Amino acid sequence: MRRTVIAGNWKMNMTPDATRAFITELAPMVEGMNKCDIVLCVPYVDIGPAVDAARGTNIHIGAENVHFAKSGAYTGEISAQMLCAVGTEYVIVGHSERRQYFGETDTTVNLRAKAALDAGLKVILCLGDVKEERLAGITDEVVRMQTKLDLAGIDAEQLKSVIIAYEPVWAIGTGLTATPEQADETCGVIRHAIAELYGEEAAEEITIQYGGSMNDQNAEELLSKVNVDGGLIGGASLKCDKFTAIVTAAN
Ligand code: 13P
Repeated sequence: MRRTVIAGNWKMNMTPDATRAFITELAPMVEGMNKCDIVLCVPYVDIGPAVDAARGTNIHIGAENVHFAKSGAYTGEISAQMLCAVGTEYVIVGHSERRQYFGETDTTVNLRAKAALDAGLKVILCLGDVKEERLAGITDEVVRMQTKLDLAGIDAEQLKSVIIAYEPVWAIGTGLTATPEQADETCGVIRHAIAELYGEEAAEEITIQYGGSMNDQNAEELLSKVNVDGGLIGGASLKCDKFTAIVTAAN
């Protein structure tokens, strides 16, 4: 059945030296914990050192974003081909911080996802409601719409390389977690949208993570929910012991 994936999103934290030290410390702590896939999505400059440090371990390395062009005049951007060249396996697209602070839309998120998949990367596609949408009772409509727009033109075969992360924006970095029931319900709504687009089998197989203040204290309960197949973890992924505790909960 579908894989549980525990992924860290380091955001704009950690230097190459700190990356090497972190992975060297983490690797023995999570050794043999193979009931979930373990991923660290790190800043671009940390990818090379992370790939080196993670070689021969069960830790997989990802990036935090990718541009949709293969090359060209896009100052400050990084292509999927560049990510592959340094050994990147996963990439996050559509994180709410990209949408919120850097003007990304469902259209650009979709383009980035397609470029990453075409290059052979595995995509962690983030989507989620803002507080006003949750309060207005339109969370289901919002995540259904994002799911459909962000996956437009991605075929069933490519979908096998997609993980969806449901990240309620109101829960990110706020210490406010969705209740396990809210996480389960909204991940279920996303799964239903996948069934409409790709059929029941694809919906049963796709990994849908929860993200937003997941930590060593609440992970077990969130992960026990039938529609929650893992976590995308920000703050708690920067601490070896906390991240290991979440991986342990998933195992
Ligand atoms: P926090 O776990 O710090 O709330 O961040 C969640 C997140 O944005 C992961 O992508």
